[in-house]
Amino acid sequence: MDLELRDTPKRYGLVSRALHWSMAALFAWQFLGIVVRGVVAKDSALDQLFQTTHSPFGFLLFLLVLIRALWTLSNRRTRPAYDRGPLGVAARAGHAALYALMVVVPLLALLRAYGTGRGLNAFGLLQIIPATGERIGWLVAPASALHGPLAWALLVLIAGHVAMVFVHRDLLRDNVLAKMAG
Ligand code: HEM
Ligand code: HEM
Repeated sequence: MDLELRDTPKRYGLVSRALHWSMAALFAWQFLGIVVRGVVAKDSALDQLFQTTHSPFGFLLFLLVLIRALWTLSNRRTRPAYDRGPLGVAARAGHAALYALMVVVPLLALLRAYGTGRGLNAFGLLQIIPATGERIGWLVAPASALHGPLAWALLVLIAGHVAMVFVHRDLLRDNVLAKMAG
């Protein structure tokens, strides 16, 4: 199948698909890691793997969502249109909320990483955020209050998003999945 790079009214193109599915896989990894933490012994090898990847992968997700938002904007006239009517309005609102949380959840944590003075280092290889050793309380507080709760809200929204794919296929008889896969 030859897939266009850009989106067309019939289906999402290669770039949108690559971003959608690679980010979905990274989100699955992030949430799986947190869930595993509650199940397996803390500081077991598996727990440590998820622990060391959580912040760098979160940073990667933050970069990807910025690229994705720009790509979405530049394809907004050519990508599959939303239905007119309440379902289309709901889909648009749902996608907008997904974007908002995809930005805010990692952003708060990145600000906190700077605010704690510990910074963010990826695998001992790359210093993403400098470790200043200086604590800035107002950069730490928002994430401490909201990073977890908003991340769980994002997971609920993702579950609703995936459920709607099946509602479309089985109840509404339009196969939206074909626009993003296949
Ligand atoms: C978009 C990507 C991210 C997702 C989906 C995500 C998700 C989560 C979730 C579900 C928790 C558990 C909250 C709880 O215990 O109830 C958590 C905790 C945590 N995350 Fe993330 N996270 C992301 C990005 C980041 C980034 C970029 C950093 C670091 C810069 C980070 C650092 C932390 C830390 C330190 C905790 C433990 C403290 C806390 O609960 O706030 N996360 N994350
Ligand atoms: C198994 C998991 C998933 C499936 C089956 C799935 C399926 C789909 C489908 C079929 C569409 C096209 C909808 C349409 O235009 O009518 C879509 C779009 C979208 N999905 Fe997902 N999705 C999944 C995971 C995720 C995750 C984890 C996120 C975000 C955290 C997400 C965010 C979005 C967004 C924002 C759109 C709108 C198009 C865009 O701007 O990329 N999806 N998804």
